[in-house]
Amino acid sequence: MAATLQSCSFLLVTFIIIGMPAIVAAGTFQPSQWTLAHATFYGDETASATMGGACGYGNLFVNGYGTDTAALSSTLFNNGYACGTCYQIQCVQSSACNSNVPYTTVTATNLCPPNWSEASDNGGWCNPPRVHFDMSKPAFMKIAQSQAGIVPVMYRRVPCVRSEGLRFSLQGNGYWLLVYVMNVGGGGDIANMWVKGSGTRWISMSHNWGASYQAFATLAGQTLSFKVTSYTTKETIIAWNVAPANWGVGLTYSTNVNFN
Ligand SMILES: *[C@@H]1O[C@H](CO)[C@@H](O)[C@H](O)[C@H]1NC(C)=O
Repeated sequence: MAATLQSCSFLLVTFIIIGMPAIVAAGTFQPSQWTLAHATFYGDETASATMGGACGYGNLFVNGYGTDTAALSSTLFNNGYACGTCYQIQCVQSSACNSNVPYTTVTATNLCPPNWSEASDNGGWCNPPRVHFDMSKPAFMKIAQSQAGIVPVMYRRVPCVRSEGLRFSLQGNGYWLLVYVMNVGGGGDIANMWVKGSGTRWISMSHNWGASYQAFATLAGQTLSFKVTSYTTKETIIAWNVAPANWGVGLTYSTNVNFN
């Protein structure tokens, strides 16, 4: 359900320094350094166990994430602010590694909670302060043989490459708006968010859980616009008139603005 939008996107700025051409994209997220961690998998080949994860993306096929996903240990999860972030993961130092696959790319869609009944080096893989990826089984099987159970990996955070714009999934009611933000490009994460009804000023939304933000405001019957600030790059973009005045709970509205 596309809406009419106005983009407030940031310009690609190209600097040509004599003898050393360089392209600098304002607000663009840059990959992090490769770092050692470990990876396991959860669920089966269907990845059905990965649906309805802690980020609130619901059905990952419907919402564009598919099976290339992972649950993050709480050290990485950052109370849900890491929802939507993207990682390249490479299996290393194990005979179970698929040597023909350099790495696979996943989006964080879930939390791998600690289990203090298990030692951090023997089953409690997601216990803090461990940095751990509990991948969907299809994603894990791209880089390693599943019989291994757990493998060392090198990982780095990378920009999320998304076709199309931000998507806003609405929940709540006419007096309490709960919004799940999906298909976030660039850093993939969100620090702050505001909603503007056609009859209101910009209203700051508070972080609820996962990738959801809420406003306690009367917004029924108003066209909704959203302003979103990236957690990593601090870039802010506005998606105007995302949802029409007759917006409905349970519906997801697409836009044509995104981070890059
Ligand atoms: C935590 O670990 C214990 C011991 O292995 C296990 O019985 C239990 O099911 C685990 N809890 C969760 C929530 O997975």
